[in-house]
Amino acid sequence: MNRHWRINEDKNRIAWLHFDLQQSPVNLLTPEALEELDACIEALTRLAPAGVILISDKASGFIAGADVRGFMGLKDPMIVERYVERAQSIFSALERLPMPTVALIDGFCLGGGLELALACRYRVVSDDPATRIGFPEVRLGIFPGFGGTARSTGLLGPRASMDLMLSGRNIDGRTAKRLGLADLLVPRRQLIAAARRLIEEQPAIARPPWWNRFLSSTPLRALLAALMQRQVAKRTRQEHYPAPFVLIDHWRRNGGDPQRMYRGEASAVSRLITGPMAQNLIRVFLLQERLKSLGRDAAFEPIHVHVIGGGIMGGDIAAWCALKGLRVTLQDQAPERLKGAIARAHELFTRKLRLPHLIRAADDRLMPDCQGDGIARADLVVEAIYEEVAAKRTLYQAIESWLKPGALLATNTSSIPLERLTPGLSQPQRLVGLHFFNPVARMQLVEVVKGRETGDAEFSRAMAFVHQIERLPLPVKSTPGFLVNRVLMPYLMEAIVLLGEGVTPEQVDQSAIQFGMPMGPVELADRVGLDISLSVAEKLARQLGCQIPESLRDHVARGELGRKSGQGYYRYDRGRPVKARVRLSATRLEELATRLIERLLTEAVACLRDGVVADSDLLDAGIVFGTGFAPFRGGPMQYIRENGREGIRQRLRQLESDPNRRFPAHTEREAAA
Ligand code: NAI
Repeated sequence: MNRHWRINEDKNRIAWLHFDLQQSPVNLLTPEALEELDACIEALTRLAPAGVILISDKASGFIAGADVRGFMGLKDPMIVERYVERAQSIFSALERLPMPTVALIDGFCLGGGLELALACRYRVVSDDPATRIGFPEVRLGIFPGFGGTARSTGLLGPRASMDLMLSGRNIDGRTAKRLGLADLLVPRRQLIAAARRLIEEQPAIARPPWWNRFLSSTPLRALLAALMQRQVAKRTRQEHYPAPFVLIDHWRRNGGDPQRMYRGEASAVSRLITGPMAQNLIRVFLLQERLKSLGRDAAFEPIHVHVIGGGIMGGDIAAWCALKGLRVTLQDQAPERLKGAIARAHELFTRKLRLPHLIRAADDRLMPDCQGDGIARADLVVEAIYEEVAAKRTLYQAIESWLKPGALLATNTSSIPLERLTPGLSQPQRLVGLHFFNPVARMQLVEVVKGRETGDAEFSRAMAFVHQIERLPLPVKSTPGFLVNRVLMPYLMEAIVLLGEGVTPEQVDQSAIQFGMPMGPVELADRVGLDISLSVAEKLARQLGCQIPESLRDHVARGELGRKSGQGYYRYDRGRPVKARVRLSATRLEELATRLIERLLTEAVACLRDGVVADSDLLDAGIVFGTGFAPFRGGPMQYIRENGREGIRQRLRQLESDPNRRFPAHTEREAAA
């Protein structure tokens, strides 16, 4: 008895194979769904219809991929290899069906879902913007294993297919048609008729041009593989993210021979997926899913947001909200700031929306509002003015009586506990923190801060708002620096201490990059602005027992504020830091990274003790999405788990005996805790 698949034969003897994974909002290829599919293929063989159309019963799309939760904790490559081979044999059985088969794609068609579609003879794709097709596997530290590398290289040729698999990017229906992945591209309402037509007419199967097959020949394959390898190496380090390199090598060795490609996929993917890097990337993916699900259930959907402060943050928050469909009014005491913010917003809309009518609609949703007329109409008011307690308090007192009943008041403060901002408010329960990160359009995380007085209902609504604008809400307690800045600050200060010991900025940054950080701490401080870094450090230093190096104050006093002033710890040429080459052994770089990272880890443990976040998974999610902490290490707590508390304690002790080491007393205790 099938639970997830259903066969329905119509009067034209076309068998409709419906997929509707039970108890799930999206279709995923779980082991059970795969076995049922196998049984359906056998049934179809017996039924011998005129054709088969694979169709999803979910509004969200065709198939979102394999069930990633099932990847977590896989240890034995042999078991995985057998499972992958089993899935491959089911897909091959589908491919071997004697009648024409069509995948009807509308919405998501990702990973294993795309591999399944490739095992059909034809693919008909809707031109709806919601249609997203791709191989995201590489982001999980693996690559397609259900015959996807064999079939996509055969159908699209090696360049287009390897580009899709190596980048993990999604494409729309139009691109899928251009690449030869889709046989027909039609509006959603014509999908069914188009699929029928393919079965009736049975057009010749699409093949890549001859020169694409030529590229798969042995000598050219080696050349092309070397080229791909060089390109990937420019943006990825092999020791951190082996999957793309293994994929290229797999194609170099097996390309052009489907049987060898299947075998190569099974053995390489099973080794990758059971390794620590992929397991940590899978963990980070699931943490992201957890954050995405927070705020999903609260019934709060603001229509109008009013933002006060049209500077870097306020301007970009307003733009993001308008991009996501909200009506936004933006207020600033300095009208010239609004002009800049509106121009930046237009650039964002153009980049993200592309189509002129959509860009115009987003422009129309964002309104400059010097007088603050929007305050009385807004469901949510976001304050993003100067980081000064007095200025913020004065503003709240001036506007509170204008707020609609039930409207939320949110502050984007990066370091001030909410309790210092509520005095003077008659309804302190409506103040929440919504701490966005810079740049807003790129940083997915938003810390949602609950103060002692914040109401539970108000807090849930703030979480729901972040979910609504498609960012990741992280619930945090109102303590100085919240989670991300608190953990980041000692790490940045340690980097500056290292500079005082004669290490160069390039060496410090290189050590962090070698560890897996997206950018070194010195460049990060320069980019944030040394004045802002200093001001946040001053606010946190006392609580964290951390000293502020004199060189930071000296730079700020000289007006050397980092990238924005053209000079900070680096000198900038057209916005880029001028860097000398690093000549330091990998071991020495590792020692430097240990000192930096240890500070971050120690503070992370302290945050957990102080209950800044509710559990260690939320902590890891916050640090990965808020700082870019090496995702393949799975987050700071996972890193501690993997390296053993004892190993870390030992390294901390070694560092304590270092005469140059400055280590705050309370965090030392933490490490020993
Ligand atoms: P900014 O200096 O770029 O912008 C502040 C804007 O607020 C200015 O345009 C100013 O004219 C306006 N303003 C000041 N008082 C006002 C008032 N009473 N009424 C109306 N407008 C007023 O500052 P930025 O960087 O955007 O920071 C804003 C807030 O966001 C601060 O609380 C900061 O801590 C926080 N934040 C900043 C981040 C950053 O990377 N810059 C990151 C995350 C949070």
